[in-house]
Amino acid sequence: MKEENMKVLIIGSGGREHTLAKTCDNSPLVEKVLVAPGNGGISKEFSTFVIDVENNDEIISLAKQEQVDFVIIGPEVPLCNGAVDALTKENILAYGPNQQAAHLEGSKAFSKDFLAKHNIPTAAYENFREIKPALEYLSTCTLPVVVKASGLAAGKGVLICTNLDSAENAVKEMLAGSSFGESGKEVVIEEFLEGEEASLHLICSGESYVTLPMSQDHKKVGEGDTGLNTGGMGAYAPTRLVTKEMLTAYEESIVRPTLTGLKKDGIDFRGTLYIGLMLTVNGPKVLEFNVRFGDPETQVILPLIDEDLIPFLIQSAKGENLPQTIEIKKESALVVVLASEGYPESYPKGEIITQPESFPTGSHLIHAGTRLNDNLDVISAGGRVLGAVGWGENLEQAKDRAYELCDLVSFKSKYYRKDIGHKEFLRY
Ligand code: AMP
Ligand code: GLY
Repeated sequence: MKEENMKVLIIGSGGREHTLAKTCDNSPLVEKVLVAPGNGGISKEFSTFVIDVENNDEIISLAKQEQVDFVIIGPEVPLCNGAVDALTKENILAYGPNQQAAHLEGSKAFSKDFLAKHNIPTAAYENFREIKPALEYLSTCTLPVVVKASGLAAGKGVLICTNLDSAENAVKEMLAGSSFGESGKEVVIEEFLEGEEASLHLICSGESYVTLPMSQDHKKVGEGDTGLNTGGMGAYAPTRLVTKEMLTAYEESIVRPTLTGLKKDGIDFRGTLYIGLMLTVNGPKVLEFNVRFGDPETQVILPLIDEDLIPFLIQSAKGENLPQTIEIKKESALVVVLASEGYPESYPKGEIITQPESFPTGSHLIHAGTRLNDNLDVISAGGRVLGAVGWGENLEQAKDRAYELCDLVSFKSKYYRKDIGHKEFLRY
């Protein structure tokens, strides 16, 4: 493959993919960025193509038709479907884990067994495929208890149950296949952990990796972290929650054992490993592995990288050793997700979005759930519609810029949290 004047194809349609597209576009190695399927806002900036990303043949046909040099897979579903394996077979270089490695996200039961086998700290758990032993185990658990559908469930498969009745019902519905289909045919029953959550992103190539800035997501829909869980209402990076010394300790207790364990188990992990951590009074514990960039975390992590990301992604895709570090700006970034009122339950779609011609210094608008109508206006098309991203010399400045941008964008049902970063400001 050529490594200049590259044509890069990004697979996916959210804020993560818009951010990846902008990052690729800024690389001197990249001549053209294509996104499939993309979204309304992405299509105003980049060439987009309508394909079914869950169909590997469609990804391959597009990559061939457009003669792309490099494919970056954004979401977990195509990774778990073996999109990277399929592209590799066709000699098309692709970033992301192969199907076997993607199992780390695709099966929570598998990832828990992996953590236990390699003595990596995580919540106590058991996996079940049958209702009777699951209910017997539940009766021995302290409350609250966490019940998880093992398979992919678009972030909805985790139930924190405060009483035995609700936990039993969750287990029965999952295992009977009525709540999460195939994804619920195996469940993980897990100890409830208390603490603050942090997102650790690594770009990996086997046992070599680079660490990206530690970020924090805001999963609850309401201010003060109240209300229903969402895909993420905002994020910031870096966080003082994890000092440099703590990160070094986490690399020893979590990152290295994970990458060494994968290798021992015959898994060549290439791509993004996003480790969801719970920082408990007994130390950090792995809540989950994701095998792709987090969203909205990507929206604040990538603007902080101070060198060309593309060579790292290419080296990872090729399985080459990565440099030990990546240059990170001494700045902060913060994203406020502009959602449709009602999200994560029911919410309106199809509302026209107005945005400024140019954005305030140190900010940009990322499109997530948007599309074009017949007049080519950008309209809302999802629960999380946009990401107002601000960056600057400190978190305060990043926040001010992000919120200034929030005010300049409008659509009828615009809803956003006014307190993104609130825990971090208490740490100053
Ligand atoms: P997961 O997809 O496994 O990360 O779970 C989604 C969210 O559920 C996490 O980000 C946590 O907020 C919460 N969660 C998952 N597992 C636990 C646990 N064992 N204890 C407390 N909260 C959890
Ligand atoms: N921000 C959570 C995720 O991407 O899974």
